[in-house]
Amino acid sequence: MLLSGRFSMRKLKTNKGNLPLHIAIIPDGNGRWANRRGMPRSVGHREGSRVLRDVVLYCSEIGIKYVTVYAFSTENWKRPKSEVDSLMGLIYEFLEKAEEELSGSNIRIRVIGDLQALSGELQKEIPRVMELTRSNTGLVLNIALNYGGRSEIARAARIIAKDAIEGRTVIDDINEELISSKLYTSGIPDPDLLIRTAGEKRISNFLLWQCAYSEMWYTDVLWPDFSKKDLLKAIRSYQKRKRKFGGI
Ligand code: IPE
Ligand code: IPE
Ligand code: MG
Repeated sequence: MLLSGRFSMRKLKTNKGNLPLHIAIIPDGNGRWANRRGMPRSVGHREGSRVLRDVVLYCSEIGIKYVTVYAFSTENWKRPKSEVDSLMGLIYEFLEKAEEELSGSNIRIRVIGDLQALSGELQKEIPRVMELTRSNTGLVLNIALNYGGRSEIARAARIIAKDAIEGRTVIDDINEELISSKLYTSGIPDPDLLIRTAGEKRISNFLLWQCAYSEMWYTDVLWPDFSKKDLLKAIRSYQKRKRKFGGI
């Protein structure tokens, strides 16, 4: 797979031994990137989608196993309809082209979130791409779409309550492991590293449960300007950290 532009350098000067297994990304700043150029916000989103493809391919190339990207939050419906439509259109296009653009990369695509609120077209396209890439054994790309951490936890609570009422679960068996297994990310290790671009230092309802011990990395770089160099900076910073998980 040929990588374009800023992602074309091939040599990785980083320690391969201590790579994050799972990187979560909040790709923020598309709107500001476009505004600064006097262009419509949708142009920033288009550029952002291109950068996402390149970042995912690069992650795959260097041996990252899981990438979870925040594509659309449960709160993003507050945006003007025209912007929501353009974001949904780009996500559709990303999925539609995934076959061709990620071909040969062995990437498996999963979409997580409350998918019932999405358009009929997306509800058809999502299972198609998931099925198409199901047997791929390389990087797993989770696209969080109409995703909210609180809504995900509330959904898990509903599933567990139903199981308890119908006798499949006993109350004393409700523990952290069981709750994790009812989240969209069931079976996927928690993110080791969370990257957020565009200078905001907040989690914005992303992977609230899963990020309990994730290492955070923030940059002022706007997502459409995010490069391979920035990704390597994040990974190197991660590699220097001492994770203690409450120990000493
Ligand atoms: C992130 O960029 C993309 C999505 C929310 C999908 P923004 O659209 O939030 O860009 P800013 O924060 O307004 O610059
Ligand atoms: C988070 O970015 C959501 C996505 C990147 C999809 P936002 O731009 O929506 O977050 P806030 O509103 O600045 O917290
Ligand atoms: Mg934003």
